[in-house]
Amino acid sequence: MEARIFLIGFMGSGKSTQGAKLARRIGYRYVDMDQLIAETAEMSIPSIFNEHGEEVFRKWEHDILQELFLRDKLVIATGGGAPCHSHLMDLMNAHGITLYIKLSPESLRDRLIRSRTERPLIKGKSESELLEFISTLLLKREVFYKRATHIVDGINLQTEALARLLQDS
Ligand code: S3P
Repeated sequence: MEARIFLIGFMGSGKSTQGAKLARRIGYRYVDMDQLIAETAEMSIPSIFNEHGEEVFRKWEHDILQELFLRDKLVIATGGGAPCHSHLMDLMNAHGITLYIKLSPESLRDRLIRSRTERPLIKGKSESELLEFISTLLLKREVFYKRATHIVDGINLQTEALARLLQDS
């Protein structure tokens, strides 16, 4: 199996939940990029956006990935915007397998409304603003997401199915 499995997809698509389960299933270490960035910066993601701005956050995403490319046997839950900046999609494809967890804007909205994670890009949006925001941004981001090694349906996604997909590839 490839040394690194990158889970990619929009905010709320289940990358962290699936990533942790998949890592356990295949005996790899699990890394959550956002968590690693927050630990390294000793700041939460919302504080990074507030105090340093999105551009700095994107640079840190890039830097963290460079470090992860040096480590083996990893399942990595990436931030939703990571594959769409600094050629990171190409770099991830060159350093492992990318799995795009695909969901409709409506499913993403429902999941994001239920989520307790604070996400600076969607903070303060009403339900209808949120759907509009997701639809517009997803359209732009899918250009990148669709270059993933595998595209999987995020509805009822089973860890076992992911593990099988990886074994067969
Ligand atoms: C972002 C997604 C977040 C986090 C940051 C920006 C994005 O991660 O990296 O808030 O640009 O889509 P999740 O996809 O884990 O929510």
